[in-house]
Amino acid sequence: MRTIDWVDGGIELVDQTRLPHEFLRLRVTDPDALVDAVQRLAVRGAPALGVAGALGVALLATSTDSSEEVRSGARRLRDARPTAVNLSWGVDRALRQLDRGAQAVLTEALAVRDEDIAASVAMGENGAATLRELLPGRSIRAMTVCNAGGLAAVERGTALSVVQTLHEQGRLGHTLVTETRPLLQGARLTAWELRRMGAEHSVIVDSAGPFLLNRDYADAVLVGADRIAANGDTANKVGSFSLALAARQAGVPFLVVAPESSIDPETPGGDDIAVEERDASEVVAFDGIATAPEGTGALNPAFDVTPAELITAIVTENRVVRPGRGTPPVGTVPERPQD
Ligand code: MRU
Repeated sequence: MRTIDWVDGGIELVDQTRLPHEFLRLRVTDPDALVDAVQRLAVRGAPALGVAGALGVALLATSTDSSEEVRSGARRLRDARPTAVNLSWGVDRALRQLDRGAQAVLTEALAVRDEDIAASVAMGENGAATLRELLPGRSIRAMTVCNAGGLAAVERGTALSVVQTLHEQGRLGHTLVTETRPLLQGARLTAWELRRMGAEHSVIVDSAGPFLLNRDYADAVLVGADRIAANGDTANKVGSFSLALAARQAGVPFLVVAPESSIDPETPGGDDIAVEERDASEVVAFDGIATAPEGTGALNPAFDVTPAELITAIVTENRVVRPGRGTPPVGTVPERPQD
Protein backbone atom coordinates (compact mmCIF):
# COMPACT_ATOMS: atom_id res chain seq x y z
CA MET A 1 0.00 0.00 0.00
CA ARG A 2 1.35 3.42 -0.93
CA THR A 3 0.15 6.31 1.24
CA ILE A 4 0.79 8.84 -1.51
CA ASP A 5 1.45 8.29 -5.20
CA TRP A 6 1.20 9.77 -8.67
CA VAL A 7 -1.58 8.01 -10.59
CA ASP A 8 -2.89 8.93 -14.08
CA GLY A 9 -1.75 12.54 -13.96
CA GLY A 10 -2.88 13.28 -10.40
CA ILE A 11 -1.97 12.63 -6.77
CA GLU A 12 -3.68 9.85 -4.84
CA LEU A 13 -3.42 9.71 -1.10
CA VAL A 14 -4.90 7.85 1.83
CA ASP A 15 -7.18 10.25 3.73
CA GLN A 16 -5.71 9.93 7.22
CA THR A 17 -8.47 11.94 8.86
CA ARG A 18 -10.84 9.00 8.25
CA LEU A 19 -8.74 6.20 9.76
CA PRO A 20 -9.23 3.86 11.55
CA HIS A 21 -12.95 3.87 10.71
CA GLU A 22 -12.69 4.19 6.97
CA PHE A 23 -9.90 3.54 4.45
CA LEU A 24 -10.50 6.14 1.80
CA ARG A 25 -8.30 7.21 -1.10
CA LEU A 26 -8.44 10.84 -2.08
CA ARG A 27 -7.66 11.92 -5.64
CA VAL A 28 -6.15 15.40 -5.86
CA THR A 29 -5.85 17.22 -9.17
CA ASP A 30 -6.22 20.78 -7.89
CA PRO A 31 -3.08 22.24 -6.22
CA ASP A 32 -5.19 24.25 -3.72
CA ALA A 33 -6.91 21.03 -2.66
CA LEU A 34 -3.46 19.62 -1.89
CA VAL A 35 -2.66 22.61 0.35
CA ASP A 36 -5.95 21.97 2.13
CA ALA A 37 -5.17 18.24 2.49
CA VAL A 38 -1.80 19.10 4.06
CA GLN A 39 -3.31 21.63 6.48
CA ARG A 40 -6.09 19.38 7.71
CA LEU A 41 -3.65 16.42 7.99
CA ALA A 42 -5.30 14.24 5.36
CA VAL A 43 -1.68 13.73 4.34
CA ARG A 44 0.82 14.13 7.18
CA GLY A 45 4.14 12.93 8.58
CA ALA A 46 7.41 14.51 7.46
CA PRO A 47 8.49 12.08 4.69
CA ALA A 48 4.98 11.97 3.18
CA LEU A 49 4.93 15.78 3.24
CA GLY A 50 8.23 15.81 1.31
CA VAL A 51 6.70 13.60 -1.37
CA ALA A 52 3.49 15.68 -1.35
CA GLY A 53 5.58 18.82 -1.87
CA ALA A 54 7.43 17.36 -4.85
CA LEU A 55 4.33 15.79 -6.43
CA GLY A 56 2.41 19.02 -5.80
CA VAL A 57 4.93 20.97 -7.87
CA ALA A 58 4.60 18.30 -10.58
CA LEU A 59 0.83 18.82 -10.47
CA LEU A 60 1.28 22.56 -10.88
CA ALA A 61 3.85 22.20 -13.67
CA THR A 62 1.70 19.77 -15.64
CA SER A 63 -1.42 21.92 -15.31
CA THR A 64 -0.17 25.33 -16.49
CA ASP A 65 2.37 26.81 -18.90
CA SER A 66 2.92 29.82 -16.66
CA SER A 67 6.08 29.38 -14.61
CA GLU A 68 4.93 32.31 -12.42
CA GLU A 69 1.76 30.36 -11.57
CA VAL A 70 3.82 27.28 -10.73
CA ARG A 71 6.12 29.30 -8.49
CA SER A 72 3.32 31.03 -6.60
CA GLY A 73 1.45 27.72 -6.15
CA ALA A 74 4.69 26.16 -4.92
CA ARG A 75 5.06 28.98 -2.35
CA ARG A 76 1.56 28.29 -1.01
CA LEU A 77 2.34 24.59 -0.71
CA ARG A 78 5.73 25.24 0.90
CA ASP A 79 4.06 27.39 3.57
CA ALA A 80 1.16 25.02 4.27
CA ARG A 81 2.88 23.72 7.43
CA PRO A 82 6.03 25.23 8.96
CA THR A 83 7.82 22.58 11.03
CA ALA A 84 8.55 19.56 8.81
CA VAL A 85 11.50 20.67 6.69
CA ASN A 86 10.74 17.83 4.27
CA LEU A 87 7.83 19.81 2.81
CA SER A 88 9.94 22.73 1.63
CA TRP A 89 12.75 20.33 0.70
CA GLY A 90 10.41 18.34 -1.60
CA VAL A 91 8.91 21.50 -3.14
CA ASP A 92 12.33 23.04 -3.78
CA ARG A 93 13.80 19.87 -5.23
CA ALA A 94 11.06 19.57 -7.85
CA LEU A 95 11.00 23.31 -8.51
CA ARG A 96 14.70 23.35 -9.38
CA GLN A 97 13.79 21.35 -12.54
CA LEU A 98 11.17 23.85 -13.74
CA ASP A 99 13.42 25.51 -16.33
CA ARG A 100 13.82 22.09 -17.99
CA GLY A 101 10.05 21.64 -18.40
CA ALA A 102 7.09 19.88 -16.76
CA GLN A 103 8.33 16.39 -17.64
CA ALA A 104 11.64 17.03 -15.84
CA VAL A 105 9.72 18.26 -12.77
CA LEU A 106 7.59 15.11 -12.76
CA THR A 107 10.65 12.86 -13.17
CA GLU A 108 12.29 14.54 -10.17
CA ALA A 109 9.11 14.24 -8.08
CA LEU A 110 8.89 10.52 -8.87
CA ALA A 111 12.55 10.17 -7.86
CA VAL A 112 11.69 11.79 -4.49
CA ARG A 113 8.90 9.21 -4.08
CA ASP A 114 11.15 6.27 -5.01
CA GLU A 115 14.01 7.44 -2.79
CA ASP A 116 11.57 7.71 0.11
CA ILE A 117 10.57 4.08 -0.34
CA ALA A 118 14.21 2.94 -0.38
CA ALA A 119 15.09 5.18 2.59
CA SER A 120 12.35 3.65 4.72
CA VAL A 121 13.74 0.15 4.14
CA ALA A 122 17.29 1.30 4.98
CA MET A 123 16.19 3.17 8.12
CA GLY A 124 14.39 0.04 9.30
CA GLU A 125 17.54 -2.03 8.86
CA ASN A 126 19.88 0.57 10.39
CA GLY A 127 17.58 1.13 13.37
CA ALA A 128 17.13 -2.58 14.01
CA ALA A 129 20.91 -3.11 13.80
CA THR A 130 21.49 -0.23 16.23
CA LEU A 131 19.01 -1.67 18.73
CA ARG A 132 20.49 -5.17 18.40
CA GLU A 133 23.85 -3.61 19.24
CA LEU A 134 22.50 -1.58 22.18
CA LEU A 135 20.29 -4.39 23.53
CA PRO A 136 22.00 -7.63 22.52
CA GLY A 137 20.29 -11.01 22.65
CA ARG A 138 16.74 -10.08 23.64
CA SER A 139 13.46 -9.15 22.08
CA ILE A 140 12.85 -5.44 22.12
CA ARG A 141 9.77 -3.74 23.59
CA ALA A 142 9.33 -0.41 21.86
CA MET A 143 7.44 2.73 22.83
CA THR A 144 6.30 4.99 19.99
CA VAL A 145 4.99 8.54 19.61
CA CYS A 146 2.52 9.81 17.02
CA ASN A 147 2.63 7.90 13.75
CA ALA A 148 6.00 7.40 12.08
CA GLY A 149 4.87 4.45 9.97
CA GLY A 150 3.94 3.82 6.36
CA LEU A 151 1.15 6.38 6.68
CA ALA A 152 3.75 9.07 7.41
CA ALA A 153 5.82 8.16 4.36
CA VAL A 154 5.14 6.34 1.08
CA GLU A 155 5.62 2.89 2.64
CA ARG A 156 6.96 1.48 5.96
CA GLY A 157 7.91 4.84 7.48
CA THR A 158 10.79 5.70 9.82
CA ALA A 159 10.55 4.71 13.51
CA LEU A 160 7.80 2.22 12.70
CA SER A 161 9.93 0.78 9.91
CA VAL A 162 12.40 -0.18 12.66
CA VAL A 163 9.54 -1.78 14.61
CA GLN A 164 8.43 -3.64 11.46
CA THR A 165 11.97 -4.83 10.73
CA LEU A 166 12.37 -6.13 14.29
CA HIS A 167 9.01 -7.87 13.93
CA GLU A 168 10.11 -9.50 10.66
CA GLN A 169 13.34 -10.59 12.36
CA GLY A 170 11.41 -12.13 15.28
CA ARG A 171 12.99 -9.64 17.68
CA LEU A 172 10.00 -7.45 18.57
CA GLY A 173 8.35 -7.60 21.96
CA HIS A 174 5.14 -5.81 22.97
CA THR A 175 4.94 -2.26 21.56
CA LEU A 176 3.46 0.58 23.59
CA VAL A 177 1.76 3.23 21.47
CA THR A 178 1.22 6.65 23.03
CA GLU A 179 -2.20 7.83 21.87
CA THR A 180 -0.83 11.28 20.91
CA ARG A 181 -3.23 13.99 21.96
CA PRO A 182 -4.91 15.95 20.58
CA LEU A 183 -5.38 14.32 17.16
CA LEU A 184 -4.62 10.74 18.23
CA GLN A 185 -2.20 9.77 15.47
CA GLY A 186 -0.87 7.02 17.79
CA ALA A 187 -4.23 5.48 18.66
CA ARG A 188 -5.82 5.97 15.24
CA LEU A 189 -2.91 5.36 12.86
CA THR A 190 0.00 3.57 14.57
CA ALA A 191 -2.32 1.03 16.23
CA TRP A 192 -3.97 0.49 12.82
CA GLU A 193 -0.58 -0.17 11.21
CA LEU A 194 0.64 -2.49 13.98
CA ARG A 195 -2.57 -4.48 13.73
CA ARG A 196 -2.08 -4.91 9.96
CA MET A 197 1.51 -6.01 10.70
CA GLY A 198 0.31 -8.57 13.24
CA ALA A 199 2.54 -7.03 15.94
CA GLU A 200 1.42 -7.16 19.58
CA HIS A 201 0.70 -3.71 20.97
CA SER A 202 -1.27 -1.62 23.49
CA VAL A 203 -2.28 2.02 23.38
CA ILE A 204 -1.43 4.14 26.44
CA VAL A 205 -2.41 7.71 27.36
CA ASP A 206 0.48 10.08 26.70
CA SER A 207 0.96 10.96 30.36
CA ALA A 208 1.48 7.26 31.27
CA GLY A 209 4.58 7.04 29.06
CA PRO A 210 7.20 8.39 31.51
CA PHE A 211 5.85 6.28 34.38
CA LEU A 212 5.79 3.09 32.30
CA LEU A 213 9.37 3.70 31.13
CA ASN A 214 10.42 4.07 34.76
CA ARG A 215 8.66 0.77 35.57
CA ASP A 216 10.58 -1.07 32.82
CA TYR A 217 7.68 -1.58 30.40
CA ALA A 218 9.79 -0.68 27.33
CA ASP A 219 13.39 -1.22 26.19
CA ALA A 220 13.59 1.66 23.72
CA VAL A 221 11.70 4.79 22.66
CA LEU A 222 11.53 5.20 18.88
CA VAL A 223 10.39 8.49 17.37
CA GLY A 224 10.46 10.16 13.97
CA ALA A 225 11.46 13.76 13.26
CA ASP A 226 10.00 16.77 11.56
CA ARG A 227 13.21 18.74 11.58
CA ILE A 228 16.67 17.94 12.90
CA ALA A 229 18.78 21.04 13.49
CA ALA A 230 22.49 21.06 12.62
CA ASN A 231 23.39 20.41 16.27
CA GLY A 232 21.08 17.38 16.46
CA ASP A 233 18.21 19.02 18.41
CA THR A 234 15.06 17.39 17.02
CA ALA A 235 11.51 18.61 16.53
CA ASN A 236 8.89 15.88 16.58
CA LYS A 237 5.29 15.45 17.71
CA VAL A 238 4.58 17.10 21.05
CA GLY A 239 5.16 14.54 23.79
CA SER A 240 8.52 13.37 22.42
CA PHE A 241 10.54 15.62 24.76
CA SER A 242 8.86 14.34 27.93
CA LEU A 243 9.55 10.75 26.83
CA ALA A 244 13.21 11.65 26.14
CA LEU A 245 13.55 13.06 29.65
CA ALA A 246 11.91 9.98 31.13
CA ALA A 247 14.01 7.65 28.97
CA ARG A 248 17.18 9.31 30.27
CA GLN A 249 15.94 8.93 33.86
CA ALA A 250 15.07 5.26 33.26
CA GLY A 251 18.27 4.46 31.31
CA VAL A 252 16.30 3.53 28.18
CA PRO A 253 17.69 4.36 24.70
CA PHE A 254 15.85 7.14 22.84
CA LEU A 255 16.23 6.82 19.06
CA VAL A 256 15.28 9.38 16.42
CA VAL A 257 14.70 7.70 13.06
CA ALA A 258 14.41 10.03 10.07
CA PRO A 259 15.53 10.40 6.47
CA GLU A 260 18.44 12.70 5.59
CA SER A 261 15.82 15.06 4.15
CA SER A 262 14.66 15.82 7.71
CA ILE A 263 18.08 17.26 8.58
CA ASP A 264 18.20 21.01 8.18
CA PRO A 265 21.77 22.34 8.16
CA GLU A 266 20.36 25.89 7.83
CA THR A 267 18.85 25.67 11.31
CA PRO A 268 21.66 25.81 13.89
CA GLY A 269 19.75 24.57 16.95
CA GLY A 270 16.39 23.66 18.42
CA ASP A 271 15.55 27.22 19.51
CA ASP A 272 15.57 28.23 15.83
CA ILE A 273 12.93 25.69 14.78
CA ALA A 274 9.49 27.17 14.04
CA VAL A 275 6.93 25.08 15.90
CA GLU A 276 3.47 24.95 14.37
CA GLU A 277 0.76 26.25 16.67
CA ARG A 278 -2.56 24.64 15.72
CA ASP A 279 -6.09 25.75 16.46
CA ALA A 280 -7.23 25.71 20.10
CA SER A 281 -10.38 23.86 19.04
CA GLU A 282 -8.31 20.68 18.64
CA VAL A 283 -7.62 20.77 22.41
CA VAL A 284 -10.92 21.92 23.89
CA ALA A 285 -13.14 19.75 21.70
CA PHE A 286 -13.01 16.32 20.14
CA ASP A 287 -14.87 15.47 16.95
CA GLY A 288 -16.91 18.64 17.39
CA ILE A 289 -17.89 17.82 21.00
CA ALA A 290 -16.69 20.30 23.65
CA THR A 291 -14.36 18.82 26.29
CA ALA A 292 -13.90 22.10 28.23
CA PRO A 293 -16.29 24.88 29.24
CA GLU A 294 -17.28 27.16 26.38
CA GLY A 295 -14.80 29.99 25.87
CA THR A 296 -11.83 28.12 27.41
CA GLY A 297 -8.59 28.99 25.64
CA ALA A 298 -5.82 26.53 24.80
CA LEU A 299 -2.20 26.40 23.73
CA ASN A 300 -1.67 23.83 21.01
CA PRO A 301 1.95 23.43 19.88
CA ALA A 302 1.92 20.52 17.41
CA PHE A 303 5.57 19.66 18.07
CA ASP A 304 8.24 19.95 20.73
CA VAL A 305 12.02 19.95 20.54
CA THR A 306 14.23 17.31 22.15
CA PRO A 307 17.78 18.52 22.88
CA ALA A 308 20.51 16.46 21.19
CA GLU A 309 22.03 15.40 24.50
CA LEU A 310 18.91 13.37 25.33
CA ILE A 311 19.07 11.46 22.03
CA THR A 312 20.91 8.13 22.09
CA ALA A 313 21.14 7.86 18.29
CA ILE A 314 19.86 9.56 15.16
CA VAL A 315 19.31 6.88 12.52
CA THR A 316 18.97 7.83 8.86
CA GLU A 317 19.05 5.76 5.66
CA ASN A 318 22.81 6.45 5.41
CA ARG A 319 24.22 6.57 8.92
CA VAL A 320 23.81 6.40 12.65
CA VAL A 321 24.92 9.45 14.63
CA ARG A 322 25.29 9.25 18.40
CA PRO A 323 24.91 12.85 19.64
CA GLY A 324 25.65 11.84 23.22
CA ARG A 325 28.96 10.15 22.29
CA GLY A 326 30.89 13.10 20.92
CA THR A 327 30.26 12.33 17.24
CA PRO A 328 30.32 15.40 14.96
CA PRO A 329 27.15 17.41 14.25
CA VAL A 330 24.49 15.69 12.20
CA GLY A 331 25.30 17.32 8.87
CA THR A 332 28.88 16.05 8.47
CA VAL A 333 30.60 12.65 8.69
CA PRO A 334 28.79 9.57 7.38
CA GLU A 335 28.83 6.69 9.85
CA ARG A 336 27.19 3.31 9.14
CA PRO A 337 26.03 1.00 11.89
CA GLN A 338 27.96 -2.13 12.81
CA ASP A 339 25.88 -5.26 13.31
O1 MRU B 1 1.28 16.54 12.83
P1 MRU B 1 1.79 15.30 12.16
O2 MRU B 1 0.87 14.14 12.30
O3 MRU B 1 2.21 15.55 10.73
O4 MRU B 1 3.13 14.97 12.98
C1 MRU B 1 3.92 13.92 12.52
C2 MRU B 1 5.05 13.60 13.42
O5 MRU B 1 5.33 14.28 14.38
C3 MRU B 1 5.89 12.44 13.03
O6 MRU B 1 6.42 11.81 14.16
C4 MRU B 1 7.04 12.94 12.15
O7 MRU B 1 6.56 13.67 11.05
C5 MRU B 1 7.89 11.85 11.66
S1 MRU B 1 6.99 10.82 10.56
C6 MRU B 1 7.94 9.58 9.98
